[in-house]
Amino acid sequence: MSTTTVERQPSDSQPRFPSTKKRLLTGLRPTGKLHLGNYVGTLEKDIELQNDPHYTCFFLVADYHALTTSAERAPEIRQNVRETLLDMLAAGIDPEKSTLYVQSTVGEVTELFLLFTMLVSVTRAQRIPTLKEQIRDLKLETASLGLLSYPVLQAADILMVRGEVVPVGKDQLSHIELTREIARRFNQLYAPIFPEPEGLIGKIAKLPGTDGKPKMSKSLGNVILLSDDPKTVERQVMRMYTDPTRIHATDPGHVRGNPVFVYHDAFNDNKEEVADLKRRYRAGKVGDVEVKRKLAAALNRFLEPIRERRAYYEARPKLVDEIVLAGMHRAGSEARETLRLAREAMGFTHYLAERFGEGAR
Ligand code: TRP
Repeated sequence: MSTTTVERQPSDSQPRFPSTKKRLLTGLRPTGKLHLGNYVGTLEKDIELQNDPHYTCFFLVADYHALTTSAERAPEIRQNVRETLLDMLAAGIDPEKSTLYVQSTVGEVTELFLLFTMLVSVTRAQRIPTLKEQIRDLKLETASLGLLSYPVLQAADILMVRGEVVPVGKDQLSHIELTREIARRFNQLYAPIFPEPEGLIGKIAKLPGTDGKPKMSKSLGNVILLSDDPKTVERQVMRMYTDPTRIHATDPGHVRGNPVFVYHDAFNDNKEEVADLKRRYRAGKVGDVEVKRKLAAALNRFLEPIRERRAYYEARPKLVDEIVLAGMHRAGSEARETLRLAREAMGFTHYLAERFGEGAR
């Protein structure tokens, strides 16, 4: 514990953040291995913007969030954190450029969360659509307080690093809206220290499952994982759902909404091949097998560098630990600074700080 006294700013000075760079933060819940839907949903954008010098990026593995729906399976979450970290690194999150951290290693977030819970009414939290979905999907009788306040914790994640841009899936926009409300409320009540972040939706809002269902889920067995081997990818693609109205290869087929073509559009880097396949498909001049073979090949081209990076990090567990440790320090120092500013803005400084300085903490 440091006992040095941190120099305190005069209370009328407005904290300023040099905002030449935009701050980006997003998180993934560690629910197991990541799939192609996670990739187009957020990872693709994350990686694009991490390579853009105008952004400072934070990525977190949201293990507390996973706990809100699986408290009784906490050890499983522990396991999954590792898989999620490996998948994120494999997908191209670069620890040299970005801060990658595990949510629960930066405990400060829970304090900011607590402060924020005072700014959100119970009825407002109950109106968040994802809550009803979770209760329905998990067949819960009622939500725990943890689940009810899930989006408030997410707001704390984002505002803890004063995040301005948040790549998320479409279903998460209601959480970003709540984050903006919290920021606004705090800024009005106390002092303008928080930005109002914006959600950023990926190119493809929602990738259908390989069975054509709109929802991708491991339990439905309709996903392709970032870590699947080439044979598994091929098998999964060959049994993919296509146009149900098409019986023979000579029947003209539908391209729109056809999962096989949605995947081609999302992952096949050979755009000419995709255009050609679509033309022939509509004209009844290509069979499903060829379309799928080419998709499997394209997916495996896309996944190869991801598999290579995964193998690299899998073979270096110490390196992964160091990355998480560095992320903890970096995100932790952001968190402590934000908390200091928030407490100061509220006039709710540490009770003993007046006498002993901030070192009293
Ligand atoms: N709720 C997000 C999801 O389920 C995960 C998440 C946690 C997150 N904290 C975040 C996303 C902060 C964006 C920003 O996908």
